[in-house]
Amino acid sequence: MTRYFIGIDVSTTASKALAIDELGNVVATKSKPHELSTPRPLWSEQDPENWWAATSGSLRELMAEIPAEQVVAIGLTGQMHGLTSLDKDGRPLRPAILWNDQRSIAQCAAITEAIGAKRLYQLIGSILLPGFTAPKIRWVQENEPEMFKQLGHVLLPKDYIRFRLSGAYAADVADASGFGLMDIGKRDWSDELMAAYDIPRAWLPTLCESQDICAYVSEEGAAQTGLKVGTPIVGGAGDQPAGGVGNGIVAAGQASLTIGTSGVGAAISDHYSPEPDGRLHTFCGPIPGTWFQMGVMLSAAGGLRWLHDEFAPGVSYDEINRRAESVPRGSSGLLFAPYLTGERNPHPDPFARGAFVGLTLRHGLSHFIRAVMEGVAFGMRDQLELLRALGVNPTEAVISGGAVNSPVWRQLTTDIMGIPLYTVNTSEGGAFGAAILAAVGAGAYPDVATACRQMVRKVDTFQPDPVGSADYQRLYPSYRGLYPALKQTFAELAAFEG
Ligand code: XUL
Repeated sequence: MTRYFIGIDVSTTASKALAIDELGNVVATKSKPHELSTPRPLWSEQDPENWWAATSGSLRELMAEIPAEQVVAIGLTGQMHGLTSLDKDGRPLRPAILWNDQRSIAQCAAITEAIGAKRLYQLIGSILLPGFTAPKIRWVQENEPEMFKQLGHVLLPKDYIRFRLSGAYAADVADASGFGLMDIGKRDWSDELMAAYDIPRAWLPTLCESQDICAYVSEEGAAQTGLKVGTPIVGGAGDQPAGGVGNGIVAAGQASLTIGTSGVGAAISDHYSPEPDGRLHTFCGPIPGTWFQMGVMLSAAGGLRWLHDEFAPGVSYDEINRRAESVPRGSSGLLFAPYLTGERNPHPDPFARGAFVGLTLRHGLSHFIRAVMEGVAFGMRDQLELLRALGVNPTEAVISGGAVNSPVWRQLTTDIMGIPLYTVNTSEGGAFGAAILAAVGAGAYPDVATACRQMVRKVDTFQPDPVGSADYQRLYPSYRGLYPALKQTFAELAAFEG
């Protein structure tokens, strides 16, 4: 009898449910979209009820194709950092405030001042950023005091889905790291930070490791999804660490580059040593005894989509690629700063903006296209350099995300990184990683590394072109100079806009 493992991914754009068998074959995938609301500048919200409608709907369709009694365990993944505010009975009090919401700038500054920047990033493994969960709780306290009085529980997006499936208030340490409220080295909530924020432990979910079973499907959860009552649910992980598992990143020294809407460079470490200036995030890893180091650029492949939609909506992506290829390396002296939605690493600055620098009359759409691809790849090189500064020296990296599908973008990225990049046999990322964690939690494999050896395989390897790499190596310092040169202007433009 085939045993199935389900991965659920509550992303910003959709909820997905996927089933794999014990060998890692994807048997079925179902997905339903979510609405995103941006009611004010810097705000980004979603209704938790929409996540549940999309997830339960996807699960019902999935369960129409596989027998519920053959589902051995479930793993969860999803967008990180989002604040789901619930009352004492678990009812949402307000829309969830998402990872890309920047409203809590003042709260971050105040908390950083109170704790001390150095102490803070030793504890939380990063500079405190408005995207993180804890400063959003403080924002609700200061701006919606009536709501705050009713607060009984706070959960991350995927953990709200766990709650609806099981009734349990639980989170894995890898995703909970994104609260900015844990002592990451100790893999637990920090008493010091809970006291500083005045957040009682009772509001926070119970922590577990990503592969550990921490909940079981309830009667109500089963009735709404078609799952069997009592099906175990493992901790799971945030989308980035779960994506790392899905890409087979399980051991120190391995690295991954994900160029999707956002861009993430990530590696695994077997000890906790946060970056000395907190410029990248060192969070608990999705494997016990590991830490997950990641640098995030907020706008990556999203930058090319923007250029396409705004300036070349009728142009096919094949034509976009042909145009990029028709332009020499360096886009004839045109550079692109990719900070279209502010930036996180290595420039934590919500006011950062995009820029084309070096324009002349010779430049046209094709140069803009290639410059965007190159600017994003240089931004990913920044993430690699942050990892290198931590002593991670990968000789190759796995690459995933939309940019992989463009041969020209893939090659110029490989040249800019200067190391071989490879793809793996699945493009399901986080959902696949969550299903692997479920398989390990259910005992189908002794550990995540063994499961990944069985289920994740290298497919194609792309080699850097020596001449291309040398050209880009010469151009990289000029890209690095863009943000420092423009920082002040970005702040002035934000102030001008009010
Ligand atoms: C990671 C992060 C994003 C979100 C949304 O820190 O903010 O990956 O999880 O995808």
